[in-house]
Amino acid sequence: MTNSKQPQHFLSLLDLSPTQLRGLIKRATELKAMLKNGEIYDPLVHKTLGMIFDKSSTRTRISFEVGITQLGGHPVFLTPKDTQLGRGEPIEDSARVMTRMVDCIVIRTFEQATVERFAAYSQVPVINGLTDLYHPCQLLADMQTYAEHRGDIQGKTVLWVGDGNNMCHSYINAARQFDFKLRIACPEGYDPDATILADAGDRCEIIRDPMAAAEGSDLVVTDVWASMGQEEEQNARIKAFSGYQVNDEVMQQADQDAIFMHCLPAHRGEEVSASLIDREDSVVWDEAENRMHSQKALLELLMM
Ligand code: CP
Ligand code: NVA
Repeated sequence: MTNSKQPQHFLSLLDLSPTQLRGLIKRATELKAMLKNGEIYDPLVHKTLGMIFDKSSTRTRISFEVGITQLGGHPVFLTPKDTQLGRGEPIEDSARVMTRMVDCIVIRTFEQATVERFAAYSQVPVINGLTDLYHPCQLLADMQTYAEHRGDIQGKTVLWVGDGNNMCHSYINAARQFDFKLRIACPEGYDPDATILADAGDRCEIIRDPMAAAEGSDLVVTDVWASMGQEEEQNARIKAFSGYQVNDEVMQQADQDAIFMHCLPAHRGEEVSASLIDREDSVVWDEAENRMHSQKALLELLMM
């Protein structure tokens, strides 16, 4: 495929404007309603989505594969084991070759620099399906889920509890783009990247004590203590993060209308209590489902 104009990539939430992001969330809810009404909507017929995954995935893989299929297109799932990428073919060459054939690419990998290098040589939109630095697609689903359950997030207070990781960084960017306050309760030594935090200005603050930070929060979010690639640190992290579990006590400190979110997979008894995540009114399953609806809106925006 040759494309004279520069493709629009989605490597972080900062790649789209606040207006585009808000429109995308609204569109995600429309696409969800159309699907539930049995409406066939396949504007991406004969389009192909390449999917390069260097890390495991349940939600991201299924939501993109099913999402592109529902839109009329077709996914090609690629792992380093099956491609020449795993045998050392340069990213730049892979990007030049693959993007002459596919219409969009999702990449899940370790370094953010890898998706940036791929995008620099890509003729088609590149989507970050998670790196060590960011997980922007998850934030689309989280913002859609908050909007569907509680309305506009602008001006609200969000509490992040746990590691200053890829999800935390994407929450910091979301605070900028969706205009909410973000409190980050993380143990010392596990702070988010200082530059990403500083760039968000006074919207984001670190408050070490999760109980104090929970006071008046409208949304409480956490994630695993050891991310993919940090498996060897698991035991040290369990020690470092004791006292950082989101449970019923933390939620009681939050606003009475507060909801809890988790990108999943979850470790019950570590970052979240079973009693909280398994509550009857838990929205985490809607949050997981919304990965597909919001990414369909993203594919529509980038590919049409
Ligand atoms: N939340 C999320 O990205 O899940 P997967 O790792 O299963 O894709
Ligand atoms: N922080 C987690 C998110 C998984 C969806 C990880 O990178 O493993």
